[in-house]
Amino acid sequence: MIALVTGASSGMGREFSKILARRGFNLVIVARRRQRLEELRRELTEQYGVKVKVLVHDLSDPDECKALYAEVENARIDILINNAGFGVFGKFTETDLDREIEMIDVNIKALHILTKLFLRKFVKRDRGYILNIASLAAFTAGPYFSSYYASKNYVLQLTKAIYEELREDKSNVYIGAFCPGPVKTEFNDVAGAEFAVAGLDEAEAAEYAIEKMFDGQLIIVPKMYAKAAAAMQRFVPTKVMLAATGKLQRSRTLKEPELPAPVNTGGDMKLRLSDDELEQAISGIVDDIKDINEL
Ligand SMILES: NC(=O)c1ccc[n+]([C@@H]2O[C@H](COP(=O)([O-])OP(=O)(O)OC[C@H]3O[C@@H](n4cnc5c(N)ncnc54)[C@H](OP(=O)(O)O)[C@@H]3O)[C@@H](O)[C@H]2O)c1
Repeated sequence: MIALVTGASSGMGREFSKILARRGFNLVIVARRRQRLEELRRELTEQYGVKVKVLVHDLSDPDECKALYAEVENARIDILINNAGFGVFGKFTETDLDREIEMIDVNIKALHILTKLFLRKFVKRDRGYILNIASLAAFTAGPYFSSYYASKNYVLQLTKAIYEELREDKSNVYIGAFCPGPVKTEFNDVAGAEFAVAGLDEAEAAEYAIEKMFDGQLIIVPKMYAKAAAAMQRFVPTKVMLAATGKLQRSRTLKEPELPAPVNTGGDMKLRLSDDELEQAISGIVDDIKDINEL
């Protein structure tokens, strides 16, 4: 059995590869940094005696995504982990457009292409697993991290819709989305941000995701983030949720911007909450929610 992991040169992708190798899967590991992948290949073959193929691709190029698929089309891939991704942090009017487009190409386009190509094959065989790495960011909008949050919303909604199509067809193919909050990886350095809260250990996060994937869970949220995810899925006035998320994101690294008090410009809801009132609203939401891990 073979598992293909994108973004295996670092962070959670490297951990997914280790966990699957330990479980006896041969691997195809993909990213741009060849040396990192070769080091991982050596480690996994020596430690677990599995076969590991290194494929270097820049997944921001759709042609490279298709070339990757063509290279492994005849191999019996059983698991696809769509993990490659990154963030661009900052105020929307100030972030670099080309970098954001590249992010959309990796986080959305590459994941979309690989999901479709592999899923068609898995459906024909009526067997296979696709785990898409989304984020807690997938449940809401993210001021100061806007396009990253939006890209992860795409990943989650696409995955949920495909899940239902597979369920209707009584397919045995699995698709699910992993939605962690902060995890300690190279993500922050790449995004140019600091986490406002302590992150999960990357190995623990990956272990949890793989375990729940094999349990068939559709939306996988590590326990410590379950309350926040549930709060985001409940009905919370949009402007309260935006102000809360914006406040959290702003506290990453950006200096406190000089924003005027948010005023209602379109609908009939006004948001004129003081910081204390906002904190109260957030803790009220979080307090009375239940764990969604059973989804
Ligand atoms: N860390 C967090 O807090 C967190 C939370 C929620 C979700 N996530 C998601 O988890 C996934 C893994 O991120 P991570 O935290 O493990 O970050 P990471 O340590 O920075 O790893 C990102 C991986 O993506 C690969 N990648 C980036 N651009 C690529 C491209 N153009 N082509 C091919 N591969 C590319 C990188 O490899 P190369 O640079 O070698 O190409 C690297 O292996 C991402 O989808 C991220 O959005 C992370």
